[in-house]
Amino acid sequence: MIGGGQLGRMFALDAKRMGYDVITLDPHEHSPCGQIADDQIVAAYEDLSAIEELGRRSDVITYEFENIAIESVRHLEALSYRVLPGSSVLHVTQNRLREKEFVRDAALATTPFAAVQSLDDLARAAARIGFPAVLKTVRGGYDGKGQWEAASIDQAREAFAQSGGSELIFEAKVSLACELSVIATRNARDELVAYPVAENRHDRGILTMTIAPARVRTETANQATEMAAVIGRRLGIVGTYCVEFFLSTAGELLVNEIAPRPHNSGHYTIDVTPCSQYEQQVRAICDLPLSPPRLLANAVMMNVLGDGTGDRLTGIAELLRDPSIVLHVYGKRHAVARRKMGHFTMLVDGPVDAAAIARAEAAHALLSWSPC
Ligand SMILES: Nc1ncnc2c1ncn2[C@@H]1O[C@H](COP(=O)(O)OP(=O)(O)O)[C@@H](O)[C@H]1O
Ligand SMILES: [Mg+2]
Repeated sequence: MIGGGQLGRMFALDAKRMGYDVITLDPHEHSPCGQIADDQIVAAYEDLSAIEELGRRSDVITYEFENIAIESVRHLEALSYRVLPGSSVLHVTQNRLREKEFVRDAALATTPFAAVQSLDDLARAAARIGFPAVLKTVRGGYDGKGQWEAASIDQAREAFAQSGGSELIFEAKVSLACELSVIATRNARDELVAYPVAENRHDRGILTMTIAPARVRTETANQATEMAAVIGRRLGIVGTYCVEFFLSTAGELLVNEIAPRPHNSGHYTIDVTPCSQYEQQVRAICDLPLSPPRLLANAVMMNVLGDGTGDRLTGIAELLRDPSIVLHVYGKRHAVARRKMGHFTMLVDGPVDAAAIARAEAAHALLSWSPC
């Protein structure tokens, strides 16, 4: 596993349950995945000798984060090590511009966009697309990092200056009815399975809540699932992946982004399906049959973020008085503000309604951080 974050950790937990050995490569000691893996290589993602060691010691290699060095993946492939999904998938998905061009070329709807590398590009993009807009760094962003909203050309210029000259993408800001995601898995035999469409709430670019299944019309859900399947097949992904969508207030379904790995909005699959998105990833890369998703309960998942006030999570006993809640904590030492530290899934019988959402929010409010 390249990357030692929580997605790698949950992958490793499922892989260990299935009897596999896991080795992780991450720049930090004591990473969430490193705590679970049989062994860890502590090295930078671009350290080719460390990457080679990972290759030598593995039968198959995957990653849990798309902002890793593509050269490292290409290096492994050149040495005939098996990396899934392959570098061609990373090439598209680690660059927001290439990703949107790929979506457009697949004749799937996305928000109007333009490449911005200069103030001239910016003026042209603003004239063609208009405001409000969102400017994003083409590379390296996640959890809302490297993004600026702009309501005018002056604000867009300011964002351009703040970005420090990195390549940007200018997107029309979509008026959102809601955000959706499809988690799917494809194996090398072109079997493809998809979980029910999930509904996602964000705060300042970070996922806060996932509701599964999404409360949208069946046609919308089917359309999202089909679009995700087209993307998986056209990209040739082998593994679990996520397609994020915007549903606009005008009723349009637009592809937002593609993650070539398990996704935060699929955490709930651990607790309410017999085969989680992580086990599907294990199955796909180990060339095993996939498990057609089956929802045993509906779910509300809420992220637990750090707030910078302390590293000790309090309120766990109060939270767990609710027997419908399953808590996951990632073992990160420092609860830096807005860092993803854990999540919980609330199992819901029957449809997820306003009362269920309020119950999850009240449960979330029981948690806080205090100094150790
Ligand atoms: N063009 C847009 N219109 C409306 N909201 C947006 C737009 N782009 C991003 N957002 C908001 O910011 C969140 C994060 O943006 P996203 O492109 O998914 O980047 P990342 O998740 O990699 O940080 C989205 O889920 C959405 O809430
Ligand atoms: Mg996103």
